[in-house]
Amino acid sequence: MIKLGVNIDHIATIRQARKEDFPSLIKAALICEKSGADSITVHLREDRRHIQDRDVYELRKSLKTKLNLEMAASEEIVEIALDIKPDFVCMVPEKRRELTTEGGLDVKTHKNKLASVVARLKKVGIIVSMFIDADTEQVLSCSEINADMVELHTGKYAKFFKENGIASAEFKEEMEKISEASREAIQKGLILNAGHGLDYDNIERICKVPGMNEFNIGFSIIAESVFTGLGTAVKNMKGLIGKG
Ligand code: PXP
Repeated sequence: MIKLGVNIDHIATIRQARKEDFPSLIKAALICEKSGADSITVHLREDRRHIQDRDVYELRKSLKTKLNLEMAASEEIVEIALDIKPDFVCMVPEKRRELTTEGGLDVKTHKNKLASVVARLKKVGIIVSMFIDADTEQVLSCSEINADMVELHTGKYAKFFKENGIASAEFKEEMEKISEASREAIQKGLILNAGHGLDYDNIERICKVPGMNEFNIGFSIIAESVFTGLGTAVKNMKGLIGKG
């Protein structure tokens, strides 16, 4: 069965909006695990806009499943990863102004720098994944720098699914790229993951791509949880007011 990694960055986004100590990231992670998540993902961004260093240390101690740390190849964050030793690291590109990770990492262009980061992380036992566009040349470069996994960026897949529809040339072309990149990854012995923009409408189609190991999903799950939980939250408060 394909695994599900849940990205809980946006629990921290809510917390940081008020600089409070709640909602608790650990509580959220444990609910995800109890509900079937196979791993928990957080992105320690250089600007620390949501996840903070202490979150990653605390998750490392508390999780029963696996911790997947998304990170840029910057020396400061590499040092933290080497200290925390998450189960997985997913190398991502990072621009300060972006709302979320836009596009995959250009492994082909930055092969030498990334190869040395991958080697350092692997040396302490971390399994290393590369977040790349669905492009066979990028997959090849990941294999050449000795990465263990690739995570195919499904942002375009999600966009074309929603805006153009599954019968559109754009969607079909992206689907073909995902299939080709997946075949290449499996042929090179890389573990195959995918993520970004996956939601309750578009998940079914991507599940049909052979060889998928895990999907990493964040925003749609956290957004949906507002509606599955908001009613209860209001009822509980109303109940307390009723007691007063
Ligand atoms: N995978 C990677 C590498 C990401 O950077 C993100 C976004 O943080 C995701 C998966 C999850 O994307 P989404 O929040 O759109 O589900």
